Parts: sequence; C-alpha cells; structure tokens
Amino acid sequence: MERTALTHAMARVPGPVTVVTTVDGTGKRWGFTANSFISVSLDPPLVLVCLNKTASTHEAFTSADRFLVNVLAHGQDVVARRFARSGVDRFAAGDMASCELGLPGSHGACARVACAMHSIVDAGDHSILVGRVVDTYAVDRTPLVYYNRAFAHPAAATEVRAEEPVKILHLADW
Ligand SMILES: Cc1cc2nc3c(=O)[nH]c(=O)nc-3n(C[C@H](O)[C@H](O)[C@H](O)COP(=O)(O)O)c2cc1C
Repeated sequence: MERTALTHAMARVPGPVTVVTTVDGTGKRWGFTANSFISVSLDPPLVLVCLNKTASTHEAFTSADRFLVNVLAHGQDVVARRFARSGVDRFAAGDMASCELGLPGSHGACARVACAMHSIVDAGDHSILVGRVVDTYAVDRTPLVYYNRAFAHPAAATEVRAEEPVKILHLADW
C-alpha cells in the first residue's frame, strides 16, 4: 500500500477538528490539533484520539492522567492552525481558559469531552490515547470540519443559542 494512495483516500473522509489539551505535573499546558477523535464505547464511555509518536507533545500526553478534547466550531480555523504549528507557544493568544478537570478549554468550542486516561495503545507511528469520559459540555454551534485537506463548513446548518455557563471541575470531583 502506497502512503500517498492511503492519504488520498483518507482525505475523502470528513472529520472533526479538535484541540486536545492536558497539563503536566509542573503545571505546563500542552495541546495539539487532531482530527482523529472518535467515540469508541458507551459502556464504559470511551473515546480515542491518535497522536504521532514524533510530536513534541507525545511524551506529555502519554504521561498524562487526563486530557480534554475541544471540538472546534466553524470560525475557529485560526485556533486549529495555531495548535498544529511547531515551535510556537500555542497558548500565547490567551483564548484557552481553565475548563473541565481544570484543563485548558475553548469557550468557543461546540463541545468539550473531558477524559481520564484509560489506556494507551501502540499503533504503528501513532499512539492511540483512549480516554474514559468523565465530563462533557455541548452547545448548538456549527462544527468545524476537516475534509480534502482543508477546513470546511458542514452543509447542515445548526441553530445557534447562547452558550451555557462553563462548568469547572477538578480532579478531586471525579
Ligand atoms: C486538521 C489537522 C488535524 C491533525 N490531526 C492530527 C492527529 O489526529 N494526530 C496527530 O498526531 N497530529 C495531528 N495533526 C498535527 C498536529 O496538530 C501537529 O501539527 C503535530 O503534532 C506536530 O506538532 P509538534 O510541533 O508538536 O511536533 C493535525 C493537524 C491538522 C492541521
């Protein structure tokens, strides 16, 4: 199987655009843009996201006991690009606030899924981070979609309503 044939085919698969965050033992924030986020199981509630082993964030996430998946909304392309950029402070813009589990979250996201680390699966050049969902947040906001190597607007319009107050949970609340 040729790598380009695979990436060409997978470019036809529309996916969500997320920013996954965590905080390490020193309080340093980590985050990366990911379109590999998907639900796995309802009982127990499990989700997964794949992280490249060469990523600068790999050690922090594979050592973490929790992570937060921010499902970006239409118009948050700039956030997605920033959290995919190498060699910059991805949090410098100041648009991430302490949210579920005390982890960095976007108030503009259409959903947030807070996870305790369930398991880490070795998968070729990626590690699969499997999270047990411990808290969620969702609003009716049009999601950002990644399709054909570009950010896209989903055809179906969703009704926009005022954002609900952000809940702040800490590890002790699990
Ligand atoms: C739309 C989009 C989706 C991405 N999805 C993933 C992903 O699912 N997993 C991953 O490891 N990297 C993904 N990346 C790349 C990372 O965001 C990041 O650029 C990469 O980890 C290199 O970062 P580094 O400088 O921290 O090494 C994606 C990038 C973009 C723009």
